[in-house]
Amino acid sequence: MTPMDMLLSRASTDHLKAPAPSEAQMAEVLAAAMRAPDHGKLRPWRYVIVKDDARPLLAKRIVASMVRLDPEAPEFKKEKRFNRFSTIPMTLVLGMHLRPEHKIPLWEQEMTVAAGAMNILNALHTLGFGAIWVSGDVVNDPVLAEELGFPAPHKLAGFLFIGTPDAPLPAPKRPDPVQFTATWQGEPVSFAADGKTP
Ligand SMILES: Cc1cc2nc3c(=O)[nH]c(=O)nc-3n(C[C@H](O)[C@H](O)[C@H](O)COP(=O)(O)O)c2cc1C
Repeated sequence: MTPMDMLLSRASTDHLKAPAPSEAQMAEVLAAAMRAPDHGKLRPWRYVIVKDDARPLLAKRIVASMVRLDPEAPEFKKEKRFNRFSTIPMTLVLGMHLRPEHKIPLWEQEMTVAAGAMNILNALHTLGFGAIWVSGDVVNDPVLAEELGFPAPHKLAGFLFIGTPDAPLPAPKRPDPVQFTATWQGEPVSFAADGKTP
């Protein structure tokens, strides 16, 4: 596969089985994360690897967070989330080490974390692993963030579920990029994606 074929064949999947990437493979994947564009070299990305026996511990914290946010969270939802976090071969917690006082705006710091995450997804795909970026309300729970090592103003950006795909990757129909692209010629542009002809 060419690098372009690689980029164009990535798809998210949560149908994941063991093995997770080895330590050496994760080192390579995380090196790709360090290639994210980063205004001011603030390095706002933080990664927490959760695997093996730590998985049910994280799952418990996730369920506790769900209950904190909604004391009436249905039992089946809690059980589903617990099972998911306990059985996915590896979860990579995406942390954001944010500096609100810095002249680089927060939104740029957060985008750098997202750019790093995208590099991770592509690097995992290149090595034959599957992954999906998930979030949910718990991502905005400051107590959970603190339990994972991110006291305010730092935050969570979500979780990457990682493993070996246990089925061929889904091939979702992708939008036509033409619909999302315009060439500026001095006047405001519009986009076919927004229901207007450019
Ligand atoms: C910040 C962020 C949070 C997301 N949270 C969830 C989530 O909680 N659950 C989910 O099913 N997909 C979530 N997604 C979407 C998936 O990661 C994925 O993009 C989607 O399933 C489409 O698959 P694709 O990446 O192959 O297009 C999230 C994506 C992003 C960028």
